[in-house]
Amino acid sequence: MKGLKKILGLTLAAMMTMSLVGCSSGGDKGDKTEVADKLQQIKDAGVLVVGTSADYAPYEFHKKVDGEDKIVGFDITMAEEIAKDLDVKVEYKDMDFDGLLGALDAGKVDIVLSGMTPNEERKKSVDFSELFYEDSNVCIVKKGKEDMVKSADDLKNLKVGVQSGTTQADYVTNTLGMTSAKQLKRIPDLMMDLKNGNIDVIVTGKNVANINIGQYDGLSIGKTTVGQEVAESTAAAIKKSTDDFDNTSLVKSINKTIKRLKDEKKMDGYMQDALKLAEK
Ligand code: ARG
Repeated sequence: MKGLKKILGLTLAAMMTMSLVGCSSGGDKGDKTEVADKLQQIKDAGVLVVGTSADYAPYEFHKKVDGEDKIVGFDITMAEEIAKDLDVKVEYKDMDFDGLLGALDAGKVDIVLSGMTPNEERKKSVDFSELFYEDSNVCIVKKGKEDMVKSADDLKNLKVGVQSGTTQADYVTNTLGMTSAKQLKRIPDLMMDLKNGNIDVIVTGKNVANINIGQYDGLSIGKTTVGQEVAESTAAAIKKSTDDFDNTSLVKSINKTIKRLKDEKKMDGYMQDALKLAEK
């Protein structure tokens, strides 16, 4: 009997210590900063806020649908699919391309979908989803001047236009070391400049070039491989995790949607639809 009491007493003491330990570790937890799960925040808000520069048909562009101005395109279909899998609505914030990553960092948008190509420089400040589309770069010139650019060196002697903040701008300024390249905020302004003879050539994505030469008379795609050494692929950009911010589950969910669409072989069809929509 005495022995049993002793055992009971010891067990009780052990249990109390354990609960005390439990208590103190609970207290520690309370002191830590709350980690905001981005995915949960989006679900709680019921809306995915997408940052985009809607001047890049067929990826993202404005179009009148039933008399109403809408942002449509390949990335917009991607945004809808990502939001569908998250069971939330989508909202777009249209801004200059060179302001997108700042908006992402400031938390003004949840993700960026804007024909954005992952590169090492950008990866220092943001995370990217898996790639979901791969295109290439071309040179747009005036009709009849298709042979104007034969080598990257030729570009250095021409008036080149690029969109500011893009990988094409990085190519001409950093890779080719050009200081004279004209950097404009929006693609249509570059097309007008080329049309008016203020610049000789625009370096941009092939799909984008094809749409624009159909919309601006007198422009054509140069017969050159210049620009092709730069990637023109697309992924979603997401703000990096910090001590109090966790993007892990959001990135996972976006990648799951991308995988689903790739498995279903949807990407090419989405691009074809976007090209048709942009041509009309
Ligand atoms: N792919 C290029 C980049 O990542 C150009 C993207 C331009 N996108 C746009 N919506 N204007 O820099």
